[in-house]
Amino acid sequence: MKKIKNNIGVRAFLKKMGFQKDASVLQLDNRLMNSLNAEGKIELEDVWRSRWEGGFSSMLDMYLVPKNLKQAALLFSQDYSRTEESMKWVSEKVFSLKPKSIVEMGCGCGLLLKYLKTKNPEIEIMGIDQAPNLINIGTKLTGVDLISGNYLKMTPKPSYDTIVCDFGFDSQDYKIPNSPHKTISIGDVKVCINCSNAYEKTFSPYIESWREWGNENSNLVLTGRITSPAIILAILKIANGLGWSLDMSQTTILSAQNNHTKDWEFFPGFVFKSIKEGKVEENFQKIYHMLNG
Ligand SMILES: C[S@@+](CC[C@H](N)C(=O)[O-])C[C@H]1O[C@@H](n2cnc3c(N)ncnc32)[C@H](O)[C@@H]1O
Repeated sequence: MKKIKNNIGVRAFLKKMGFQKDASVLQLDNRLMNSLNAEGKIELEDVWRSRWEGGFSSMLDMYLVPKNLKQAALLFSQDYSRTEESMKWVSEKVFSLKPKSIVEMGCGCGLLLKYLKTKNPEIEIMGIDQAPNLINIGTKLTGVDLISGNYLKMTPKPSYDTIVCDFGFDSQDYKIPNSPHKTISIGDVKVCINCSNAYEKTFSPYIESWREWGNENSNLVLTGRITSPAIILAILKIANGLGWSLDMSQTTILSAQNNHTKDWEFFPGFVFKSIKEGKVEENFQKIYHMLNG
């Protein structure tokens, strides 16, 4: 690959990586299928069949399909608008925090890491993903030995200044049980406290495992489809318990157009800092109002 200029923007970078911004879901499906060898075609057909038949097919099954950058770019182009929007915001936040080192949880094929390294070759990067094929692609792309494995089950390596999770988790992995709803009010916001408590239990291992890769001053930059009041409250509580308070001046709401439904979706971009502030309920209400207008 030709050297990428360090003044490149996210859109041009993604295009260079092989992303297809304007392709439809069907076009992307066909192009991915056509790019695969015989074995890969069977693998992808199996994932599709399992979904059509309503059977169980995890997101991981799909992430295991691409074996090179072109194929990964075709797969992740299905979520183009979100990828561009969150990569833009996360990279801006990372640079404003001026870390010497960053580690990304669920880094996929290392696109964000490659972008950060292109913009600032001095920065030390590391990434973890449970899809070994994506890690192989990311290792080639970044020139850094990224880590293959499940971050929930891993012994953490040295501490990083900034921990990033840019959609690096799958909601189907932490589904909460169907418990009876019990609505409470926090200020003028209503939230089901039973759902929130259940999310707190299922999501704690995530933030705890990310925290272990940092030091006592590390920041967390987090994006994802974290939109229900119950999960927002849970995440703020878990982070607070681990000494991470929301920096409201950096936290924002991002928007992207879903390629499948064409609907606009809104999701938070959180910046947590290592300060003990304890404003969970106040910040929860602010985020809720930012998300819901
Ligand atoms: C939606 S993709 C996002 C990839 C990338 N961060 C991006 O923005 O394009 C989610 C990624 O997180 C990874 N992932 C989910 N849970 C994980 C876990 N427990 N440990 C390691 N990787 C995980 C998946 O394998 C997948 O590559």
